[in-house]
Amino acid sequence: MKPKYTSLRGVRDILPDELRNWRIIEDKARELFRRYNYREIETPIIEPAEMFVRTVGEESDIVRKEMYIFKDRGDRLVALRPEGTAPVVRAFLENNLYIPGRVAKFYYIGDMFRYDRPQAGRQREFHQIGIEALGESSYILDVEVIMLLLEFLEELGLADTILLLNSVGCPNCRPEYSKALREFFIPNSSELCEDCNVRLENNPLRILDCKVEGCKEIVAKAPSIIDYLCDDCRTHFENVRSVLDSLGIRYVLDTRLVRGLDYYTKTTFEVTVSGLDLSIGGGGRYDGLIKDLGGPDLPGIGFAIGMERLFNVLKDKNLLLKEEEVPDYFVIYDSTLVTKAIILSRLLRYKGFIVEMSYTAKSLKSQLKEADRSKAKKAIIMREDLLVDNKVILKDMTTGEQEEVGLDKLEVSLIGQRI
Ligand code: HAM
Repeated sequence: MKPKYTSLRGVRDILPDELRNWRIIEDKARELFRRYNYREIETPIIEPAEMFVRTVGEESDIVRKEMYIFKDRGDRLVALRPEGTAPVVRAFLENNLYIPGRVAKFYYIGDMFRYDRPQAGRQREFHQIGIEALGESSYILDVEVIMLLLEFLEELGLADTILLLNSVGCPNCRPEYSKALREFFIPNSSELCEDCNVRLENNPLRILDCKVEGCKEIVAKAPSIIDYLCDDCRTHFENVRSVLDSLGIRYVLDTRLVRGLDYYTKTTFEVTVSGLDLSIGGGGRYDGLIKDLGGPDLPGIGFAIGMERLFNVLKDKNLLLKEEEVPDYFVIYDSTLVTKAIILSRLLRYKGFIVEMSYTAKSLKSQLKEADRSKAKKAIIMREDLLVDNKVILKDMTTGEQEEVGLDKLEVSLIGQRI
């Protein structure tokens, strides 16, 4: 079949077999996040574009190259959300969800849009499962958030994840580091890509996140942010590391991990698995973001996992359910028994079984073929001569064995039943 239209580049359909596994993953996330006292929130897919420019950062790839941005019919500049953190913070402020003295914990599951070059692990529409915890600055929350991320992946069967950890400092210590970076990169500027030369002017930290090979080589020799952290940031980071160590949570200190969004402060982290060149998830603290969006001076921290990337890893590692879900019963009937067949199907569905029935009362033989095509485990054949004694034929579609059974064996009764 050749349809007239196909989906756009970088977006795709999620088909039933895949979606079934997605829902299992999502259910596990919901259940685990609930136990950590997170509550689900859903924000709109469109938001004011300016909000992302301000928070994700003018110099970030997301804002410079990847944001789906357009004017709506009211001439407002809107964006399809490229990420979920700024929208959650906006919703938190707009709906007055702040209760002083209490950490506000939210999680979300939804699609995000980035006009990336489509390739393995990079789509233009992708899905994130994320959490945000607002209102607490303690390193203990950093540890809990990281623990939650790893626990979730572990529950899905991914025990061999690699955790990358860094601190990106705060507005007190970062200018000093930016200065050091500038001094380091200026003599090398001719070897940096065009984008990095712009970054050198505006936000040299962004150079650390550049994916161009030549830039990566120079970045490897750049000064490390860890040497520039102020006392507060250093103590915070040492505390995070020491608790992770005590808990036996292993991590790789990656002092180049600045992440692709500008709002981060202090702890940043990413998770991946060996052999994968991309992160499955990432996050960090953003202690200035709430204030930046017009709210009180409150800290925040969170992470997001990319559903497609997670799914591919689980698939590669054989950690997904493979069998297609098939009907438990296929109801076949003499043409005079249509109503009874509908009632029986409904009763069995009511009991939780997956039930399919023939919609055209053809011969029993052709209905049996239909049952076969549906891959149903069992067929129930309703024949007039048997039903007078409350009996049906139960056929095991795998072995072909069949037997006459009373309806009581199916734990249903058609007596007195009405639709
Ligand atoms: P991010 O690192 O930009 O962080 O995205 C998080 C995850 O989304 C990535 O690790 C990746 O799995 C997935 N992802 C990102 N871009 C794509 C893409 N083009 N195609 C497929 N998957 C993708 C954030 O978005 C932050 N809001 C996370 C956060 C929450 N930080 C604090 N709270």
